[in-house]
Amino acid sequence: MKHFPIFLDLEHQKTLVVGGGEAAAQKVRLMLKTAVAIVVISERVTPELAEFARIGRIAWVARKFQESDLDGSRLVFVAGQSGQLSEHISQLAQTRNIPVNVVDQAALCSFLMPAIVDRDPVTIAIGTEGTAPVLARRLKSTIEGLLPPRLGELARFAQELRPRVAREIPEGVARRSFWDAFFFGKIRDAFFSENTVNGSAGLSRAIDAEISGHGTDRGGSVALVGAGPGDPELLTLKAQRKLQEADVIVHDRLIGPAILDYARRDAERIDVGKAPGRLSPSQHDINRILIDQAVLGKTVVRLKGGDPYIFGRGAEEQAALEEHGITVEIVPGITSAAACAASVKLPLTTRGRNRSLTILTGTTQNGAADHDWQALAAPGQAFAIYMGVANACHLQQELLTAGIAPRTPVVIVENGTLPNERCVSTRIQHLKRTIRAERIKGPAIIYVGLSWPSAHQVSAPDTQSIGEIIPFPTSIQQTYATDGPLKEFAR
Ligand SMILES: C[S@@+](CC[C@H](N)C(=O)[O-])C[C@H]1O[C@@H](n2cnc3c(N)ncnc32)[C@H](O)[C@@H]1O
Repeated sequence: MKHFPIFLDLEHQKTLVVGGGEAAAQKVRLMLKTAVAIVVISERVTPELAEFARIGRIAWVARKFQESDLDGSRLVFVAGQSGQLSEHISQLAQTRNIPVNVVDQAALCSFLMPAIVDRDPVTIAIGTEGTAPVLARRLKSTIEGLLPPRLGELARFAQELRPRVAREIPEGVARRSFWDAFFFGKIRDAFFSENTVNGSAGLSRAIDAEISGHGTDRGGSVALVGAGPGDPELLTLKAQRKLQEADVIVHDRLIGPAILDYARRDAERIDVGKAPGRLSPSQHDINRILIDQAVLGKTVVRLKGGDPYIFGRGAEEQAALEEHGITVEIVPGITSAAACAASVKLPLTTRGRNRSLTILTGTTQNGAADHDWQALAAPGQAFAIYMGVANACHLQQELLTAGIAPRTPVVIVENGTLPNERCVSTRIQHLKRTIRAERIKGPAIIYVGLSWPSAHQVSAPDTQSIGEIIPFPTSIQQTYATDGPLKEFAR
């Protein structure tokens, strides 16, 4: 390690910034997070720096650099100056043992600026010795995602609570276990779910319980977490954090390894998905697993595809857990209907075309789902069907019988957002045929009554596909059938 990372106390100390452009402003913005005394030397400055000077947050000396500017400086930044002047200032500063940083000139620097994750007072500095700034930025955003936005407030609150904890909990294991619960357990959860610290009953209860010794009762909890449609980049920040914190992850079969990679390596994983040729656990079995793990005091994540409250049995699991007094948290995920549409650039609502979008399931426990087919078949309706592939024949028949226009457009997205995503478009009158001919097995969303904006449409080649030739966006590789622009379809 060439550069040693330390955290400097610069409160009320003079920091010199030579330069008044955007690069200098970036440094000033960062330094203003501390109570440092900033002096900017430059004939001209950006409007932002001028405003900082006007309101007294920095001092601006509107002239060229002079050697005496270094007097009393604890740190020097040089930004946007000529090579010769930068080198000169760097040498002067180093002769006086003042740490100096020349923007984008590693050779002239005696200290480097790290990428910073700021959850004041919790601060994480990331450095690569200047070898890989892009890597540093990526690490920063990954860590940003893992840390709750209010982590700093939690740390400050810990500081406030310290005297009481010192009075009421003996030093050693008991106190360590209290702080563990504080930062990683019920107190932390209560803190983040309250809007204000003062007057928050849940938080006070959690603290009292821990302090009075009930805290040793490490009751587990379950988070029903939506994992989105499959692309790990569509995991929410909260879902990522929950995965990092979980002792046990109970997941569906469709949750891929790339998503499970976000979990701690030592977290137990329980696959409760349905798989061909294997006896899959019933919903009752899954509820039992969740309850048993939570009762053991574990932090459990029940990881579900899409969103847990959309055809995800989230409500049933929540009810079973709450019946046993287990704390349940719901972390929403991007549901497949939204994600698949975005992936193939198919708008879900379009002004002047559809004012609502219905989501519905094609399958129930008892087979094909029944719906108000008359209402769905009415002109102007748009809907996204989940779990509809197996019952496509039934859906098509019911809709046609209810009077839907046979040429109503249909778009099917299979394995949306995953590397093997496929998009096929057809008309409702050809739905069943298309699914069979294209060997669509699912998981897939079937959109009915939606089409791409005309700007996206191009004439499709005269394929030998079943049905008709349909225009489709150039960006979509695989598609299918009909005879004329979708915008012209008549009901
Ligand atoms: C049991 S439901 C779960 C829905 C999930 N809770 C959600 O919000 O997306 C399973 C259905 O979701 C849809 N689905 C899930 N992942 C999908 C994907 N990657 N591409 C297309 N459809 C998907 C399919 O209709 C599949 O049959």
